[in-house]
Amino acid sequence: MRSFHVTTFGCQMNEHDSERMKGMLESLGYAEAPAREDADLILFNACSIREKADSRFVAHLHEAKALKRRDPQRVIGVGGCWAQSVKDLVFEQFPFVDVAFGPGQVHKLAEFLTSDSITAQGFFEFEGFTGDLPMRRARDFQAWMQISVGCNLKCSYCIVPSTRGREVSRPFDELVTEAERLVGEGVREITLLGQNVNSYGRDIRPDRRSFAELLHAIDATGVERVRYTSPHPKDIREDVITAHAELRSLCEHIHLPLQSGSTPILKAMRRTYSKERYLDRVALIREHVPDVALTTDIIVGFPGETDEDFEHTLDVVEQVGYDGAFTFIYSPRRGTEAAEMAEHFVSHEVAVERMERLVEVVQRRAREQAQRFVGRTREVLVEGHSRNAPTKLRGRTRHNKV
Ligand code: 5AD
Ligand code: SF4
Repeated sequence: MRSFHVTTFGCQMNEHDSERMKGMLESLGYAEAPAREDADLILFNACSIREKADSRFVAHLHEAKALKRRDPQRVIGVGGCWAQSVKDLVFEQFPFVDVAFGPGQVHKLAEFLTSDSITAQGFFEFEGFTGDLPMRRARDFQAWMQISVGCNLKCSYCIVPSTRGREVSRPFDELVTEAERLVGEGVREITLLGQNVNSYGRDIRPDRRSFAELLHAIDATGVERVRYTSPHPKDIREDVITAHAELRSLCEHIHLPLQSGSTPILKAMRRTYSKERYLDRVALIREHVPDVALTTDIIVGFPGETDEDFEHTLDVVEQVGYDGAFTFIYSPRRGTEAAEMAEHFVSHEVAVERMERLVEVVQRRAREQAQRFVGRTREVLVEGHSRNAPTKLRGRTRHNKV
């Protein structure tokens, strides 16, 4: 029996896509190898969101190259946003790679593996949903559901619109059927995935569907917990917010990417909301779901960001009091609008200093917010053994606290 090994980088969408890759490979008669060096087929599902993601992955790729040198029969494949962003150039830079495919072409990997082709091949059309491929869940009780692929927005820092193509929603009934099947299999928690989940269904014809409708339909399957990621603050409508208050399954957690607290920077980022509008959304969320946990993504050092702009970011963090935040230093990405603003780049030194100040405020506010859980008994969905204390179990509350 031939064997495969997949290494995943990047976001939950990539993790989902990797599970589908594994499901597809198993249906082709492959078995998962315990380690990379044991595999006939070495796959990477790689991310290109920031430069660091790129370089971390390239180190792994060189390790695969060494393994292939030892055993030239091995096949090396590269998928994900990274592959899409470099396309056929991958074969020039890394001639030992046999097959490369973008997020819309995972199914073509099967075609490649079952053909007699011995020449390297690349597949980069935006064509299929990985959500349509066989699934192989990492955990019995948790499942991803890809509700849409692609993104029609143009955030000026972001490479994703070019790596995942135009937005396409999966059919409503198909998703509900899938959720019912998952519940039947014992799944307790479903996470809905999309690059911008709130715009789900706008492209469905003749009857448009909304994300809130989908949430109601999925709740009706009887699943215990529903999560979703990520919404765009411009599109998070009242019907979605009230769904959090109404639907038993929908968890008390919203990840609401801020990116910057400065209105001019938000404009340059093409986020289409202002500082005030973002804070209004937060107020509306808290009005309907007072105990909600809010988390966010923030970029520091976007081209042209002044000290004053940065102070606005700190101010939003202070006002909102996030339960947690992912913080990033701006990283120019090939082909994006912001990467052309080189004359306005913020020095690395300044960016690092802002990052340190930001992390301090984020952590202080998160600690303060966490106090509200002291003394409360919360339900936890166990995910496995604790990483640093193997005799303990690890799980998450509905608020997404580990
Ligand atoms: N530089 C830094 N951070 C970025 N992100 C996306 N693109 C970039 C970039 N070019 C961050 C955003 C996004 C998260 C997934 O990654 O905050 O929400
Ligand atoms: Fe996910 Fe973005 Fe990385 Fe693609 S580039 S894997 S969408 S984080």
